[in-house]
Amino acid sequence: MAATIKSASSPALEPLPPPLTLVPETVIAMNGTVPSRPSTPRRSLVPRGLITRLRHRSSTLKAAATSHHKENREEIPDLPDDEFYQIPVYTIRELEYPHMGQGVYLDHSGTTIYAKSLIDSFAERMRTNLYGNPHSANGPAEKSGHVVDSVREKALRFLGADPKHFDLVFVANSTAGIKLVADSFRDLAEKTRSRSFWYGYHKDCHTSLVGVRELTNGQSHCFESDVEVEQWLDNPELHGEDRRYDLNPRPQGLGLFAYPGQSNMSGRRLPLSWTGRVRSSAALQNTYTLLDCAALAMTSPLHKVFKDPDSAPDFTCVSFYKIFGFPDLGALIVRKDSGHILTLRKYFGGGTVTMVSVLGGTWHKLKGRDATDSFAGGIRQDHGEHSYEIHDALEDGTLPFHSILALGEAIDVHYKLYGSMDNISRHTTSLSIRLYQKMRSLTHANGRHLCHIYSEDDGNGFGDPRRQGATIAFNLLDSKGYYIPYSDVEKIANENGCYVRSGGICCPGGIFTALEYEPWQLQRAFSAHHTCGPDGISLIQQLPTGVVRASLGAMSTKTDVDAFISFLQWTFLVQGSSKPIQLPFAERDYQVTNPDRRQSDATLVCAAHAVTCG
Ligand SMILES: Cc1ncc(COP(=O)(O)O)c(C=O)c1O
Repeated sequence: MAATIKSASSPALEPLPPPLTLVPETVIAMNGTVPSRPSTPRRSLVPRGLITRLRHRSSTLKAAATSHHKENREEIPDLPDDEFYQIPVYTIRELEYPHMGQGVYLDHSGTTIYAKSLIDSFAERMRTNLYGNPHSANGPAEKSGHVVDSVREKALRFLGADPKHFDLVFVANSTAGIKLVADSFRDLAEKTRSRSFWYGYHKDCHTSLVGVRELTNGQSHCFESDVEVEQWLDNPELHGEDRRYDLNPRPQGLGLFAYPGQSNMSGRRLPLSWTGRVRSSAALQNTYTLLDCAALAMTSPLHKVFKDPDSAPDFTCVSFYKIFGFPDLGALIVRKDSGHILTLRKYFGGGTVTMVSVLGGTWHKLKGRDATDSFAGGIRQDHGEHSYEIHDALEDGTLPFHSILALGEAIDVHYKLYGSMDNISRHTTSLSIRLYQKMRSLTHANGRHLCHIYSEDDGNGFGDPRRQGATIAFNLLDSKGYYIPYSDVEKIANENGCYVRSGGICCPGGIFTALEYEPWQLQRAFSAHHTCGPDGISLIQQLPTGVVRASLGAMSTKTDVDAFISFLQWTFLVQGSSKPIQLPFAERDYQVTNPDRRQSDATLVCAAHAVTCG
């Protein structure tokens, strides 16, 4: 079937960048040695007068950053070793995120936080313009249409996807993008002999990817490790004969292989090369790839994903609120050469159809058909004014045009504050190794570790952005080695102003691999009425059923990390009880600012205590 033949070429593998080497600072209060709590809580960790100086410096730097971005991205002024942005992160935090002064926010994988300038500029655009429904033809509608078109292109460029080779379909979130792909495959599969498609997914998949298997009539396979994926890619035909793989795609059958660029549970990053290997495999010509970049895109540039259209995923999903904090919007990035397969879906809505007959016969004409014609052979065909793009065929109903407007502002503000996603990657990599090392160093008086960190490579990936994002999954153990319920940890942390997430983290395969569960134990947990949210049963027979997750974002600071470490120390080591004593967070209106790097480590610890323990 012509529609399922893809262009194949050998993927050009990029040389890997050298891993980031970080000189860890003197680790504060190692091995449970905690200085005494300060008697008076500090309102702000910033010396008087410094804010004014920083403000001044910030506006100068902001101007510099803007013009730098416009003019010359290569010329980056010398920055201190631990500064990755042109505007110091404490200044960014102070000026742009005053709403983060209520605690230590460590749930960036849930959502990161929006900058003040983004809300201001969005509000300004809304206040000063008249935007209509882009489906109409009047002036205000045209204005919205123009916004949608320009932001679509801006978003593609931000993600590093060349609009010549990729289209961007606006969706509500990553899950909606995944479901759009899944529904299209189910519709097309009805035309196959088996009336189904094969679906292969990695065990680290988010629940939203796992759900696709329910549309396959049982033809799905969960790859339980990277090694298993590699073996399959090395020799898919051989594996097809292996009884373990008898759910493999049939030679001519329609298939979809999905995996996350980064585990939403552990932050582990998975190989990006698999998508190119599927495309270049003769045996997998009808198997398409879906890369879930919801977690990866938060703190990593995606230009490596899209650099080579021949090896890029066919479909990639992102959730923009995880990158910018706002708007609540997502995208499905479609490789144009593969997009035709989605336009064969059955459903149509307002916006995706050009003619519909309701009375005296039921027929309709989809924009999808024209979109397919428009890109016949992967080359844009000129059909005059009635040609459509892939997104025209997939965006049902009125687009969230106000959110799309906000996305354009979000991208501009992001560039101004952070310069690039590469800078954010370096910044968050440096913070995550700090967090990891400090958590590893926390021990009870008898030498037992406080934190059981879940990492497939014993933490060696921390510091290497190819292998690890800025997320740590862990459980806490008391001095006798018993697990402390994760729900208690989240609750106590929350009461002390440290915001983390706990539970099954929507990563069923990842969680139960990390916890070394066997299938019967999962059944037992289910029959005991355990659920995977924070209200589940944290421990069954002394073993955890979930984890605590701490995740960092672009504007996280060393003070956030140190404050969280200080909270763990004070609550679970100094109090030294498996039933930790709750410490009220007395100073809720503190500001997480610590620009004076000359202060001693001891001062830092005190400062962190002021933040966490009141
Ligand atoms: C890796 C991954 N995939 C998918 C999702 C689902 O994203 P959304 O809820 O925005 O659809 C998430 C959300 O945390 C995620 O981290």
